[in-house]
Amino acid sequence: VVYDEACGRRPRLLVVANRLPVSAKRTGENSWSLEMSPGGLVSGLLGVTAQFDTKWVGWPGVDVYDEVEKRALSKSLAEMKCIPVFLEEVFDQYYNGYCNGILWPILHHMGLPQEDHHLDTNKTFQTQYDAYKKANRLFLDVIIKNYEEGDIVWCHDYHLMFLPQYLKEYNSKIKVGWFLHSPFPSSEVYKTLPSRSELLRSVLRADLLGFHTYDFARHFVSTCTRILGVEGTHEGVVDQGRVTRVAVFPIGIDPDRFIRACELPEVKQQMNELKERFAGKKVILGVDRLDMIKGIPQKFLGFEKFLEENPNWRDKVVLVQIAVPTRNGVPEYRKVKTQVHGLVGRINGRFGSVSSLPIHHMDRSVDFNYLCALYAIADVMLVTSLRDGMNLVSYEFVACQEVKKGVLVLSEFAGAGQSLGAGALLVNPWNVTEVSSAIKEALNMPAEEREKRHRVNFQYVKTHSAKKWGDDFMSELNEICAESEIQIRK
Ligand code: ADP
Ligand code: G6P
Repeated sequence: VVYDEACGRRPRLLVVANRLPVSAKRTGENSWSLEMSPGGLVSGLLGVTAQFDTKWVGWPGVDVYDEVEKRALSKSLAEMKCIPVFLEEVFDQYYNGYCNGILWPILHHMGLPQEDHHLDTNKTFQTQYDAYKKANRLFLDVIIKNYEEGDIVWCHDYHLMFLPQYLKEYNSKIKVGWFLHSPFPSSEVYKTLPSRSELLRSVLRADLLGFHTYDFARHFVSTCTRILGVEGTHEGVVDQGRVTRVAVFPIGIDPDRFIRACELPEVKQQMNELKERFAGKKVILGVDRLDMIKGIPQKFLGFEKFLEENPNWRDKVVLVQIAVPTRNGVPEYRKVKTQVHGLVGRINGRFGSVSSLPIHHMDRSVDFNYLCALYAIADVMLVTSLRDGMNLVSYEFVACQEVKKGVLVLSEFAGAGQSLGAGALLVNPWNVTEVSSAIKEALNMPAEEREKRHRVNFQYVKTHSAKKWGDDFMSELNEICAESEIQIRK
């Protein structure tokens, strides 16, 4: 049971994440267009929230300083049940600095950055950390303005690690959940973070902490025991008698949304056009944010080796890579974009001809229907993340492959490697030879084996949906809160 039916209405859920499910773009004075935001967090949560009276709290994707403009944007967002948090001056140091320049690489096992720009006095660790705390306070202010007694507050991701503490200091009775959408690294990596203890202590104030995989949860618990000296148990973390439950909730997608889309005449038409465009060739597909954790350069190196070693395939295969630009304010992201473009040029230069190019690379986002058409016509999906929380792209591909039964080549370092590993070909993306061999195996795989592997993964994607993920998290949170109320009454 997810909620107490006696109250006669759907329970209110405040979903708090840095990014709202829609991002605003200025179209004129006081006018805005709203577009769906990219990323797994938004995609995952969209499948969840129907069973709650849900409001989203988050950053609207633009800087707004003028009060009249803020009111106009808040009004448009309210129609989508979204409440904006305007981050103004703190945004750069908070988002580009602490969140995506410091925490994101640490959580993905990449260590703290050592580039020159981190030696800039305005961008020191301390300045960015202060901005991070200030931004978390701005989120708190908006939550307080909108909070009603009994609401559940579900905080998401590494941007909001101070919120559990701030919320409990404001009102210890608020039900607070926190979910990490990224990996959690080994304590040996996390330990280097100067603010390591404060962040852990804050998230431990939540009633329930969720992670995608058992390994991430285990890393988190052992990091707490090693850094804070608290006790780790099978339930979670125990600090001076108080237990914080730590549990595993693998996220999923809304599979029916993809299955239905593949049946639409418009999508079928797009599929036919794509099939015609790539007639006589096998299509390998990549869909990623242009992020260093996605291992796009490693994917291209593997493909280059495959073309080098298999000249008979050169005119018979194409790699279509859709890479939506992301976090352009962070220097490392600009660097990976340049690297990727360099590799596309090199590989197309080596193996292309006037009539055909081996890599079709697009730095852009594609609309939902077109994305489904691409997933459906692909023969192979190539996911080579160096580390990834889950990687929902691999789930989306499986959901769209009921007809074709293509092969998923998947990094063992993505959370999805643990859930879809049985049907996929798992690879270590750092091993170029392994990626090249997996491409060959996938392209040559007999229909019977493709069918068998697809069946296993499709079954998993169908049953482990985003809705199940949300229900499981919420029912566990409710149970914990009900238990602690009983304890208090005793
Ligand atoms: P992450 O959360 O790190 O971006 P995921 O694979 O979990 O990784 O989720 C990415 C989400 O963003 C998916 O729902 C996918 O469909 C969407 N997405 C990624 N790249 C694109 C793109 N180029 N165009 C449209 N949607 C994209
Ligand atoms: C990952 C993170 C999300 C984030 C998304 C897109 O999925 O876990 O929190 O929203 O990437 O990144 P962005 O920085 O554009 O919000």
